[in-house]
Amino acid sequence: MSTTGGPAVTPERIMEIVWGYAPPLILAAAVSTRVFDVLDAGPKTLEQLAAVSGNSVRGLRPILNALAGFGFLTKDPEGRFALSPDSAAFLVRNKPGYLGGFVEFSAWNLMPRWQQLREMVRTGKPGAAVNQQETGEEFFQQLVEPIFNMSYPATQALANALGLESADGPVRVLDIGAGSGVWGIGLAQRSKQVSVTAVDFPGVLDVTRKMAERFGMADRFSYLPGDFHDVDFGTGHTVITIGQILHGEGEQKSRVLLKKAFAALESGGTIAIGEILVNQDRLGPPMGLIFAVNMMANTDAGDTFSFEEISDWLKDTGFVNFRKIDPGGPAAVVVADKP
Ligand SMILES: C[S@@+](CC[C@H](N)C(=O)[O-])C[C@H]1O[C@@H](n2cnc3c(N)ncnc32)[C@H](O)[C@@H]1O
Repeated sequence: MSTTGGPAVTPERIMEIVWGYAPPLILAAAVSTRVFDVLDAGPKTLEQLAAVSGNSVRGLRPILNALAGFGFLTKDPEGRFALSPDSAAFLVRNKPGYLGGFVEFSAWNLMPRWQQLREMVRTGKPGAAVNQQETGEEFFQQLVEPIFNMSYPATQALANALGLESADGPVRVLDIGAGSGVWGIGLAQRSKQVSVTAVDFPGVLDVTRKMAERFGMADRFSYLPGDFHDVDFGTGHTVITIGQILHGEGEQKSRVLLKKAFAALESGGTIAIGEILVNQDRLGPPMGLIFAVNMMANTDAGDTFSFEEISDWLKDTGFVNFRKIDPGGPAAVVVADKP
């Protein structure tokens, strides 16, 4: 009860945030100890699950109860745990939409970097800038495969917007910062006319190659190894994809990269920029705000940007016809054409 007659002030939101680190770590621990994989074969009690997964009863008990309480598992009156529909779809290894790799990467690789946040706020400097070959190649070799499924729906939405299925001539795709190759693979699946040139650090292109082979697309891919600021992109590309790159580069380097992309596109060609966007007023959505801090912590100039900001850069570069494809989820695609 407030003594001033206004709404009561409580510490509830603060206390919830203080413990906010716990749910992602609980989820990641369950992924890493194969809880979801084992439950995919059918419901199990705590003791059965401990025996099959090789974990301790004492360790699993509070984890399973918390997961059931948060809705990632169900628990029946006999104490048997089972998968919820979203856990079954996204947290079981080898399911097509698997996101457990990113749950693990975030908890075990990203979270430790955030531990230096206090110092980073003071200095404005990241622990290590990952958008450079020396510091970033190994980081991205590990990251890109786990995030494949985060961008895949956006690639399909882009393929629809480009009308790829009715393409009657060659579609030359240049994929800048290709990573897992998700953009090229997603587009190539939709039309035999698509060929892909993937640009990335040499060590990351090993992952791109592996993924292109896994999806049966090896013969559609060629590779340009090196720093995308230095590599010669050539000319005459029909589509250029830049997936989850600009937030790592910051405004100045992004503008330079967009100019280079513009020169490499054929007239009438299309640029497609996958990004985690923030609203123009920078008050939301939460993912855009959190990701801006992630970029401060991991890059020297990275940030999140709004559709309007990126459109302005594209306009200054000479692009026209700006639109946003929103496939749902945290990432959108900003699309524009070269006149
Ligand atoms: C966040 S990942 C995105 C991968 C992929 N485009 C996607 O949407 O999933 C960023 C990619 O850009 C690559 N990259 C970052 N800076 C680069 C640079 N200067 N030159 C070449 N590749 C770079 C990284 O190696 C990584 O594969």
